[in-house]
Amino acid sequence: MSVQKVGVVGCGLMGSGIAQVAAQAGFDVVVREVSAELLEKGLKSIEKNLQRLAEKGTVTNADAAAALRRLQGTTRLEDFSDCDVVIEAIVERLDAKRELFSTLDAHCKKSTVFASNTSSLLITEMAAATERPERFVGLHFFNPVPVMKLVEVVRTIATDAAVFEEMVEFGRRLGKTPVRAWDRTGFIVNRLLVPYLLDAVRALEEGVGSIEDIDNSMKLGCGHPMGPLTLLDFVGLDTTYFISGIMFDEFKEKRFASPPLLKRMVLAGWHGRKSGRGFYDYSDPKNPKPRQLT
Ligand code: 3HC
Repeated sequence: MSVQKVGVVGCGLMGSGIAQVAAQAGFDVVVREVSAELLEKGLKSIEKNLQRLAEKGTVTNADAAAALRRLQGTTRLEDFSDCDVVIEAIVERLDAKRELFSTLDAHCKKSTVFASNTSSLLITEMAAATERPERFVGLHFFNPVPVMKLVEVVRTIATDAAVFEEMVEFGRRLGKTPVRAWDRTGFIVNRLLVPYLLDAVRALEEGVGSIEDIDNSMKLGCGHPMGPLTLLDFVGLDTTYFISGIMFDEFKEKRFASPPLLKRMVLAGWHGRKSGRGFYDYSDPKNPKPRQLT
């Protein structure tokens, strides 16, 4: 199978990034949102990103224009019928994803491979909602998708070995470095990242260091691009809390359990950068200020 046409369901932060990367890699892309308004917002963000890349000289104007031409927006799942791969990047709710894949199963050609960008839900459980579990994988991208070089390619016990290798190759054609993972909650990255982020909150709670000192320690001591508390604000405290809950349910290990401070921040609506407040205050987004939390 040679992938030519890619479907992306969801044109939010992750979906728009995936659609952009696929169009830049030369694939024809159809991307779907639930409403015309959300679709326009997502497509505009892709256009802006490509414009910025062209202005910086990272891509030529012609390549940016060609990528945009390869992108088709839609609000109809029927438009995925002739896609070779469909990647789902909708809300992290198993029932919503299962319903989506079951509908897509009826609309898409038999050979279409389904992929989910979930970070923590079980691929096996989504695949079971379709008649094609052997043609079902996880393709887990990282935020910001156009920048981060990794894609986790996830197989279930039902995934066909040849389909899996085709998806590894597809990840490469998208310009990413694919890694192979089994369908274990959190795959590779979140299995390692989530306990680390939770530990940073525990270190703050225990008074080991201040917000800035914890972040600077990992940035300057270990060469990470962001400290863990800045990264938590970037990923979203609500998102990390949600993932940690699922991982704790799966493994029943303390390292995946949310520290009380994180839970309370989520309950207070302090979800990080997107809500203007997390471990830092983003009233001046270019100059975030650490907050008094302990
Ligand atoms: N979209 C597109 N491009 C972006 C971008 C975005 N949202 N944000 C930054 N960039 C680009 C910039 O344009 C710039 O490009 P250039 O080098 O060609 O000029 C480049 O990225 C670097 O950006 P900046 O100079 O503005 O800022 P930084 O050097 O601080 O980089 C960062 C920003 C790439 C976000 C970097 O801080 C980083 O790598 N942070 C860690 C991000 C990370 O760990 N992501 C994974 C989160 S976990 C996840 O997604 C999994 C989920 O399941 C939880």
